[in-house]
Amino acid sequence: MGLLKGKHIILGICGGIAAYKSVFLLRLLVKAGAEVQVVITPAGKEFITPVTLSALSGRPVISEFFTANTGSWNSHVDLGVWADAMIIAPATASTIGKMAGGIADNMLVTTYLSAKCPVFLAPAMDLDMMAHPSTKRNLELLAGYGNHIIEPAEGELASHLVGKGRMEEPENIVKAVEAFFASQCDMAGLRVMITAGPTHERIDPVRFIGNYSSGKMGFAIAEECARRGAEVTLVSGPVSLQCVHPGIRRVNVESAREMLAAAEEAFATSDVAIMCAAVADYYVENQATSKIKREKDEIPQIVLQRNPDIAATLGAKKQPGQVLVGFALETDNEAANARLKIERKNLDFIVLNSMRDKDACFGTDTNKVTIIDRSGVEKAFGLKPKSEVAHDIVNHLVEII
Ligand code: C5P
Repeated sequence: MGLLKGKHIILGICGGIAAYKSVFLLRLLVKAGAEVQVVITPAGKEFITPVTLSALSGRPVISEFFTANTGSWNSHVDLGVWADAMIIAPATASTIGKMAGGIADNMLVTTYLSAKCPVFLAPAMDLDMMAHPSTKRNLELLAGYGNHIIEPAEGELASHLVGKGRMEEPENIVKAVEAFFASQCDMAGLRVMITAGPTHERIDPVRFIGNYSSGKMGFAIAEECARRGAEVTLVSGPVSLQCVHPGIRRVNVESAREMLAAAEEAFATSDVAIMCAAVADYYVENQATSKIKREKDEIPQIVLQRNPDIAATLGAKKQPGQVLVGFALETDNEAANARLKIERKNLDFIVLNSMRDKDACFGTDTNKVTIIDRSGVEKAFGLKPKSEVAHDIVNHLVEII
């Protein structure tokens, strides 16, 4: 189904005999297209060597806070932000206890505490340890914190005793993680076109009229839609950003008129269009084909001509069932101006960001928005990272669809 393709997964391995199964789990994850970073506890290394794990994952295995020979520091915070999911398999009674108690005395449990992504635990231990009230209580606590417990199976254990405690088979662990991602795909089957970034209107081959838009908001929305299963076309003006999700189709444009052509083409087969770009209002009609020289007496005149309104053009063509979302950046009469834009551009809703809000505009990593829909209902959100703002906007979109 490709649900794990391009996903960043931390595979945490603890010291238990079931660690040998983690090698198969790692292989399955890599085969499914995931990028896997193995973090192993010191006891885990007694059961399975980092060499095997790094060869299969294509990345050095992390175990310690510091890498001795280089003196560099392994950042649990960076790892926690990088990951789309963390799978701890096998999860031993000791690690489960540390996780439940907030103890951070090795790289694995410290990374767990920093992780913002969903965490899956596949416990593996002897039947009496599994049945112990403290293990049961710790697992209940961890489930209560939102972790996903992949229950161990019953069967013969390493001790030759028979009971509950065998780590679930790698295939089933992969299935559980895939099922989770499938449940997150509330945009599966939707085609979304997003415009992002500024446009550059050429004056001559080396100069242009532009604006300060970084494209960060549009790119964050594209990532969010792709993560939730949508087929995304991102029509981007000149920005220095990269797409992370491999499913995003990126079309690079320079001017507003190029952006219009790419957006119209994509919109014809899209269910949703999100107009995030800061499109220049004018282009240079007397664009020079060679570099304009600095003449002593003559000051060159730039003749401007109105650019097309891409959102309004798509709004006029919108078919029943298509959803069009706009952005508004206002300094005065914000809500009233935003409502006028909903009408003028035939939008389904508009995302208003105010120039008055500090840290909520061009180039920043945060934004503070209010969503206003056609019926006039307003939803105001606090200052958040753009990735979280994208989440709020896409939630609203999914609600109205
Ligand atoms: O009219 P104004 O520029 O304030 O409207 C902003 C909204 O319209 C944004 O969603 C922006 O992406 C879109 N827009 C557009 N084409 C233009 C100007 C704005 O798509 N030429």
